[in-house]
Amino acid sequence: MKLAVIGTGYVGLVTGTCFSDLGNDVTCIDVNQAKVEGLKQGIIPIYEPGLSELVLRNHEEGRLSFTTSVAEAVPDADVVYIAVGTPQSDSGAADLSAVWKVVEDIAPHLREDAVVVVKSTVPVGTNGKVFDLLQKLTGRECHVASNPEFLKEGSAIDDFMYPDRVVCGVRNKKSEEILRQLHAPLLRTAKPILFMSPESSELTKYAANAMLATKISFINEIANLSEKVGADINDVRIGMGHDQRIGFQFLFPGLGYGGSCFPKDVRALTSLSETLDLEPRIMRAVDEVNVHQRSSLVRKIDAHYKGDVAGKTFGVWGLAFKPKTDDIREAPALDLLQYLIEKGAKIMVHDPEAMENIRAMFGDKINKYCENVLEAVEGVDCLAINTEWNEYRTPDFKQLKAKMKEAVIFDGRNLFDLEILEQAGFTYYSVGRRP
Ligand code: UGA
Repeated sequence: MKLAVIGTGYVGLVTGTCFSDLGNDVTCIDVNQAKVEGLKQGIIPIYEPGLSELVLRNHEEGRLSFTTSVAEAVPDADVVYIAVGTPQSDSGAADLSAVWKVVEDIAPHLREDAVVVVKSTVPVGTNGKVFDLLQKLTGRECHVASNPEFLKEGSAIDDFMYPDRVVCGVRNKKSEEILRQLHAPLLRTAKPILFMSPESSELTKYAANAMLATKISFINEIANLSEKVGADINDVRIGMGHDQRIGFQFLFPGLGYGGSCFPKDVRALTSLSETLDLEPRIMRAVDEVNVHQRSSLVRKIDAHYKGDVAGKTFGVWGLAFKPKTDDIREAPALDLLQYLIEKGAKIMVHDPEAMENIRAMFGDKINKYCENVLEAVEGVDCLAINTEWNEYRTPDFKQLKAKMKEAVIFDGRNLFDLEILEQAGFTYYSVGRRP
């Protein structure tokens, strides 16, 4: 099939590339000329494991191309995917201006039998509005469907290639057939493709993210309680998870959820409910707990030093909002760095992928950007950990202690065993476990 995928952000680029790898002829379109030129030369604007190789291979084999021109790609397309960003607006609602712009741009070029598929995460009802606008602009009823993504940054290629399910919101057989055909190679392992109304499909996406966010805020609240009552959240989590109705996934306590999806989607769902005169009490609480949790490491540091961190040197491991990505959007590390800078501390940071993004934001307010994990703890008063990259999990504690001025660790991700740290002579703060 011939596909035009509009938006070469994280979702659009992964979607377009993976569909091309499945043998489709894909053109990815973006308004950002520099990005498109870079992609043509194999420069991938984001870090996502496996993506670079896949883009290069399919580009070389002529199945994947890049352009800024809608007029070039859309007239031939059987399917037009809309995968542009829907950032949070000031009110908390999703900002759909990029979606409307795309609909206006594609309308004059759309083939009569083409199916327009909205991949972007959009408020319930948007698909219907896209349908109405296209009807107004083209003078005919176009095929418009919804096909939300469930990709996690860091494992997006695998999530795309081995989905748990594919959700499609359709209003006619034509869209259903095209989406079934397109996804057939992904569903060999008997995973379902679910057809429903566009409204149900749009709500499924928000509800799934909101449910996962709820699990995280819930376990963080229990972790905070564990600290007060002398319980160990790790034991509690495992004790709970063995109940098959609860399960183990998304119950790791930490520094709250970050990234470009959960915070924005929880707020968009809240905002949508409010505009419909509903009281989204759970969603509001999930967000509130998360905002509080994001600064939990800062509170522990502040309490330990009684607010006096000026002149102290902090080693910071992990800046990305989670491992295997360079994404720092809504990352808890930002709260910590902000606090340390305001208080006049010295900061040495390490992250395997996100350092350039942090440098662009903080520049020389951070004293040292370290290429090596151990370089970031040289002579420091303490180490603070924000992200659970694998390379932080098994340090040689003797060596670590010898490098640090004081053996103090603030760990926002529960990477280490309490007993081992105690025996190694560290003062160790973690989440939901005794200090
Ligand atoms: C999330 C969803 O998992 C995807 O299914 C969805 O497609 C995507 O949002 C999206 O809407 O585009 P992502 O934001 O990439 O994916 O990352 P997750 O792995 O879900 O992690 C989100 C946040 O939750 C991270 O900050 C992570 O540290 C935190 N988290 C996750 C926890 O604190 N505890 C856990 O047990 C799991």
